[in-house]
Amino acid sequence: MTATTGSSAVAVPTGVLLRPLRWWDLPAVVAVDRVCFGRDAWSLETFLSELAQRPARDYAVLVGEGGDAPEDDGAVADAPDLSGRGGRAETAAGPDRRAEAARRPDRARGVLGYVGVALAGSRADLQTLAVAPAARGRGLGRLLLAHARTVAVERGARRLELEVRADNEPARALYSSAGFEVDGRRPGYYRDVAPGTPRVDAVLMHGDLLGSRHARRTAAGPDDSEAGLPR
Ligand SMILES: CC(C)(COP(=O)(O)OP(=O)(O)OC[C@H]1O[C@@H](n2cnc3c(N)ncnc32)[C@H](O)[C@@H]1OP(=O)(O)O)[C@@H](O)C(=O)NCCC(=O)NCCS
Repeated sequence: MTATTGSSAVAVPTGVLLRPLRWWDLPAVVAVDRVCFGRDAWSLETFLSELAQRPARDYAVLVGEGGDAPEDDGAVADAPDLSGRGGRAETAAGPDRRAEAARRPDRARGVLGYVGVALAGSRADLQTLAVAPAARGRGLGRLLLAHARTVAVERGARRLELEVRADNEPARALYSSAGFEVDGRRPGYYRDVAPGTPRVDAVLMHGDLLGSRHARRTAAGPDDSEAGLPR
């Protein structure tokens, strides 16, 4: 099954939808973030600030059965329009906002994961990537990373850079298996897991996007036989 998220497309499992992250996803996203990152979790304000920086940011969310349901829209009901985009505000006020939320096609589904990319010319940075614990081990992390690479390539980036905690073995294995290389370390970059324990280094990594099949395909023109498949 192939789903589109804006201009890019990647293959996703049946019953799962990959689409742009919207304001009404934020309560569930913040809840998943808290479970995934603990003391380093982002606040609602941080996510809103990130969304406000679009199109210099791209955020996508995976939704499906069994995810964290964003039932409490009230958490963002009074959020200002920080979308930074013209046209219709995503944070439409009052009944309009509620009517729009009620119409959304995947209301019954929950958040399984999300990914955010900062786009700045030839360089892109992976801002965040997470999969809810119950949804792990099904290839969704790899799918989100493939989407981030696709978005970065489409926006002209040649490198996708990231920082990962040195003690985060699953994430480091994910990036390594996707061809990311280690550039170095930033000592003590992350706060301690619990008060009194040592701070943790950041491992700096990058993925070379020019070497990707997608980048070569983009340079050579569209190829329907491979379009939409993650690398
Ligand atoms: C890291 C994370 C995104 C992986 O998500 P996932 O959906 O379970 O990953 P996938 O099923 O797509 O696995 C892809 C690869 O990642 C690696 N991997 C995933 N989980 C792993 C684990 N527990 N131990 C070791 N390697 C693991 C493997 O290389 C795996 O490939 P394989 O299945 O062929 O062995 C997920 O564990 C997570 O959200 N962690 C908390 C948030 C986080 O650390 N984000 C990264 C911040 S930099």
